[in-house]
Amino acid sequence: MKILAIADQENQRIWSSYKPKELREPDLILSAGDLDPDYLQFCVTYARSPVFYIHGNHDERYQQKPPEGCVCVEDDIVVYQGIRILGLGGCMRYRPGAYQYTERQMRRRIRHLWLKLRSYGGFDILLTHAPAAGYHDSDDPNDRCHHGFAVFNELIEKYQPRFHIHGHIHMNYNIPAPVISQRQQTTVINASGGTVHFVYEQERAAEAASGIIQPVSDLPAFSQTEPEQSAVHIETI
Ligand SMILES: [Fe+2]
Repeated sequence: MKILAIADQENQRIWSSYKPKELREPDLILSAGDLDPDYLQFCVTYARSPVFYIHGNHDERYQQKPPEGCVCVEDDIVVYQGIRILGLGGCMRYRPGAYQYTERQMRRRIRHLWLKLRSYGGFDILLTHAPAAGYHDSDDPNDRCHHGFAVFNELIEKYQPRFHIHGHIHMNYNIPAPVISQRQQTTVINASGGTVHFVYEQERAAEAASGIIQPVSDLPAFSQTEPEQSAVHIETI
């Protein structure tokens, strides 16, 4: 399954195109937050796939104008063509307002998901706005906004999803984070710098749906140093 991950910055080349071919290819589009609701509506209008989204810290605007035609997967596990997607939007609390959480509040959200996590036997893709602590995040004590959540690490280590898609850490911020990194069998992708296409192997989706998860050794390796061998294609804006 071809998946397009988007976050934070609207791709103007796509948005200004009458027939954006980038939106015809994916089987699924995932928005990791902080995108104009009109852009998401544009995407779902021209795509042949659904658009699943969670909220970024700037998405209070969705309360007045939710992206019509798109599916909110916040605090939920949604299964699409056998792939289980868990959505947890928001970032580390740094100011008053919605879609910001302390570490304790994020932990509480995840605790409330225990029945869904048990019912679905975990998840295959973690879709968040903020990164996990220590992965693509800021270690500047004065940059609380861009700190990652430690509880995401616990979630990933316990359920070993194939992908963690996040946004929030823009490429033009002074955070020396890679776009992709690998942690055990989870490929972590920062989608905030543009559009990121990646492939989720169909047979794996079917196995996930039937509860059979492949051993780690069978999983393809992704590496920043060998992008030509990677199933992840990044287009920065
Ligand atoms: Fe953000």
